[in-house]
Amino acid sequence: MSTARDFDCQVTYVEQVLPGVVKVAFDCSGISSSAAPGQFVQIEPSADVFPVTRRPITINRLTGSGFELLFDVVGRGTELMARMQPGDIARVLGPLGSGWKIPLQSNCLLIGGGLGAAGFQFLIDSVDSARVLIGASGLERVIPFGACHVVTEDGSVGEKGLVTSLVTEKYLAEADVIAVCGPVAMMEAVWGVIPEKYRGKVQISTESRMGCGWGVCDGCSIPMLEGGYRKCCTEGPVFYGTEIDWKRWKEAGL
Ligand SMILES: Cc1cc2nc3c(=O)[nH]c(=O)nc-3n(C[C@H](O)[C@H](O)[C@H](O)COP(=O)(O)OP(=O)(O)OC[C@H]3O[C@@H](n4cnc5c(N)ncnc54)[C@H](O)[C@@H]3O)c2cc1C
Ligand code: FES
Repeated sequence: MSTARDFDCQVTYVEQVLPGVVKVAFDCSGISSSAAPGQFVQIEPSADVFPVTRRPITINRLTGSGFELLFDVVGRGTELMARMQPGDIARVLGPLGSGWKIPLQSNCLLIGGGLGAAGFQFLIDSVDSARVLIGASGLERVIPFGACHVVTEDGSVGEKGLVTSLVTEKYLAEADVIAVCGPVAMMEAVWGVIPEKYRGKVQISTESRMGCGWGVCDGCSIPMLEGGYRKCCTEGPVFYGTEIDWKRWKEAGL
């Protein structure tokens, strides 16, 4: 059962981490005490501006008494969120969705594309060991983590190439959980290089345009191989790769 509630959360810090990429932290033990890696919040970008519906953002990591978000400034909603200042109060609904399924004592292989890796820190902090593979277009799209393998399309960080080039049989065999998050085309390419025998371990953090974020508007369906569609906001955003109908999902676009 969902433990999501609506909270007035105070902004504790705002930091620009990369060009057009902002980190905002909120003080809110009501959300942080029940959140799990892979879950998200629906945030009201501004109480003063209408109409801007809430925007879904993954919980990047927990802080002492709250949580942090990391997001790309791509439009009106995220622009307003990036303008928040410490001390501001925002209306936040969360924690929402069903996150990563992590067995006890798990070794996790995380494969992220660009800003898709926002949210990985919470997962890294929650597992026994994590190997992180990141692909990005260039230096300005690489989220800083501790130890991770990075490739970039322009070669400005790490080897020049795509994240699929970092996926080895050894890494796949050693992992209990393979967590993938990024643009749909990137996730489909990663899925394509994973041999059948490892596919049962693969979990995919899906994305969809969202309305309500809690299961009532039917606006966020992800096509499944069996059972038609499932809601990204309540039954996801994380699904097993074997459940997803990749062809129909890609065709549907966002
Ligand atoms: C469950 C979930 C978790 C998310 N977590 C993060 C996160 O941690 N960090 C982050 O940067 N973004 C995340 N997103 C995407 C984020 O919600 C959108 O970028 C944001 O809603 C855009 O709002 P906007 O008003 O700024 O842009 P809009 O004006 O609404 O759109 C601007 C551009 O962004 C595209 N866009 C809008 N929504 C999405 C979406 N859901 N997915 C992909 N493209 C979109 C639009 O097609 C358009 O091209 C998440 C989305 C979902 C569904
Ligand atoms: S966003 Fe409304 S049902 Fe998922």
